[in-house]
Amino acid sequence: MQFLIIAMIVVGSVIMVTNIYRYRLFMKEMTDVLSGGSKNNLIWQWVGLFLLIFFLIGYLGIAFLGHPDLLMAGILFGGSVFVAIILTLMFRLIHTTKTRSMNVAELLISVVEARDANLNGHSRYVQNIVICLYRHLPDAMTSDVNFVSLQFAALLHDIGKMGIPESILDKPGRLSNEEWEAIRSHPKIGVQVLASLESFETIREWILYHHERMDGKGYYKMPKDQIPMGARIIAVADTYATITMKRPYHKPRTHEEAMTEIKNVAGTQLDADLVRYLEKIPKEELVACAPETIEMNLGIAVPAVITEDTDEKTV
Ligand SMILES: [Fe+2]
Repeated sequence: MQFLIIAMIVVGSVIMVTNIYRYRLFMKEMTDVLSGGSKNNLIWQWVGLFLLIFFLIGYLGIAFLGHPDLLMAGILFGGSVFVAIILTLMFRLIHTTKTRSMNVAELLISVVEARDANLNGHSRYVQNIVICLYRHLPDAMTSDVNFVSLQFAALLHDIGKMGIPESILDKPGRLSNEEWEAIRSHPKIGVQVLASLESFETIREWILYHHERMDGKGYYKMPKDQIPMGARIIAVADTYATITMKRPYHKPRTHEEAMTEIKNVAGTQLDADLVRYLEKIPKEELVACAPETIEMNLGIAVPAVITEDTDEKTV
């Protein structure tokens, strides 16, 4: 009998410590836009953590000082297992919610991209490059950027194109000033589309500023030090994806050509540090980012049909 009591106390203590560790992971999961991202819940999350620690201290106190009988040991053990089950269910729920939210976003963006045959798969391509680049960045550069939120923002970065006429999106030749103005409005339209979603506050500015430039000549002429890191990362991925995929104004170019062009604009258009990390990514990894719908040029270099400034290519 005594052995059973000790066994339940020891195993229950281990489960409680594990519960506290898993609860901290859960709190981190709750910081992205798909899981709420709201600061309103933050206080309750910390209260929950405090109560779990309090429960563990009380558990150990009773175990070592209270001489628990079988009933008490059973109640403590059952409490630990109950918390473990609740945490498991919460993790499952949160992952299901995230997957469904991402699926809805993919559906939404596929509707936008269906209006332009050349754009098919672009957002997924940018998202994949963002994931790849983020994993190669040091923690110091990404401390303010939630990984899941960034993936979501990358997928939705061009959602504002739903407000641009197809005649402009599909136009193969040079665009008039008015048409460029319409194109340049797509980040703003995107933000308006997402305006009603309170938890999207963080990613709204990444989407709004994904065409800002380090030299301050972007869509909103934003100074370099005010451009959020999330927007900078999306800009680098967007540029690589746009150069290497078929667009109305150019044929797909090779990885090598893209890297040459990107290095030429490092520090002026794109964040030079991010470009340095992009260079370190093996070619195979970046090429593998392209969804099947993207027409790639993996071999001989193909000259651009129209030579414009790089910033005009990444719309
Ligand atoms: Fe864009």
